[in-house]
Amino acid sequence: MRALILVGGYGTRLRPLTLSRPKPLVEFANKPILLHQVEALVKVGVTEVILAVSYRAEQMEQELTVEAEKLGVNMIFSHETEPLGTAGPIALARDHIKKSDKPFFVLNSDIICDFPFQKLIDFHKAHGKEGTIVVTKVEEPSKYGVVVYDDKKCIESFVEKPQEFISNKINAGLYVLNPSVINRIELRPTSIEKEVFPSMAKDNELYAFELEGFWMDVGQPKDFLTGMCLYLKHLRNSNQDKLYSGPGVIGNVLVDSTAKIGKSCQIGPNVTIGPGVVIEDGVCIKRSTVLRDAVIRSNTWLENCIIGWKCSVGQWVRMEGNTVLGEDVIVKDETYINGGQVLPHKNIGDSVRTPQIIM
Ligand code: GDD
Ligand code: MG
Repeated sequence: MRALILVGGYGTRLRPLTLSRPKPLVEFANKPILLHQVEALVKVGVTEVILAVSYRAEQMEQELTVEAEKLGVNMIFSHETEPLGTAGPIALARDHIKKSDKPFFVLNSDIICDFPFQKLIDFHKAHGKEGTIVVTKVEEPSKYGVVVYDDKKCIESFVEKPQEFISNKINAGLYVLNPSVINRIELRPTSIEKEVFPSMAKDNELYAFELEGFWMDVGQPKDFLTGMCLYLKHLRNSNQDKLYSGPGVIGNVLVDSTAKIGKSCQIGPNVTIGPGVVIEDGVCIKRSTVLRDAVIRSNTWLENCIIGWKCSVGQWVRMEGNTVLGEDVIVKDETYINGGQVLPHKNIGDSVRTPQIIM
């Protein structure tokens, strides 16, 4: 089977991290978001993954070719010369998709869940129509594509980012489509959510598969951290050995084996520590992600933060409020940072008391 993953888009909502790495390569729970997806696809027998890229293609190609070899999957890079939206890339990859008459998966590259690909394909084959969308329930449906369907799960309407409340069932960003769907898509910038799905729904060709368990679009800092909490909780229930335990560790915590944690620290709940990270003595970290090679000096306190690659956070710093530090940011000792985003390679010498973008 084949899968097409939409890895274009600028990832603006995950800045400043996406100024250094494309969104699909940002490590979520110590693994690029995209690899969580590719690994799950390989498990159900996907042998060819088409990556629809429109931005920072070279970096992606370089890093992912290595990973693809490890996983034994054929990775094809389908380059867009202009961003083709969420449907155009499917038309662009037409020749690959048409090689087989079997259904293929389509994935948004920023979503995380316990990918139920086998159940999804079984459901799709059972109803026999052109497409299946995975749906999940959320509290704030207006930022997503909203789906209305009948008792038999046949979708009656699909509305992207509705202004008014229609339903709390939303498009989870995972689909199975028959290759015939290509006939509905023109090779131009076009949206699957706004153009293709509404017309498939009108023709009664689109079904909803209800997702069980956790789900999150991790394309924004606040949701990235919420998604991490859900993912770690899921690990606790499914693969507890992967979680870290040791002195000073509270709740669900993931620590790369090459990270170093000092004495008298309090790590957790809900923390991910990346490879090569150094945490000095007396540090307290809650509900945060610390990315590769960052250093957190002694007695610093972090809550609701994403610390970018190679950052250096001084001693006795207090940082909270969904602060995101880009790559290689230096934070001076004894500062207080209360939210905001700091662009890569900045030095922060003074406290930041109100959330802001620091350029
Ligand atoms: N190749 C390519 N080219 N990919 C693109 C382009 C493009 O021009 N534009 C966006 N993408 C990719 C993004 O990288 C992402 O993986 C996916 O398409 C969806 O784009 P987002 O920008 O993340 O959309 P969203 O989060 O606002 O909404 C989408 O996801 C929701 C679920 O998280 C929609 O599919 C909603 O209907 C859905 O509910
Ligand atoms: Mg998204």
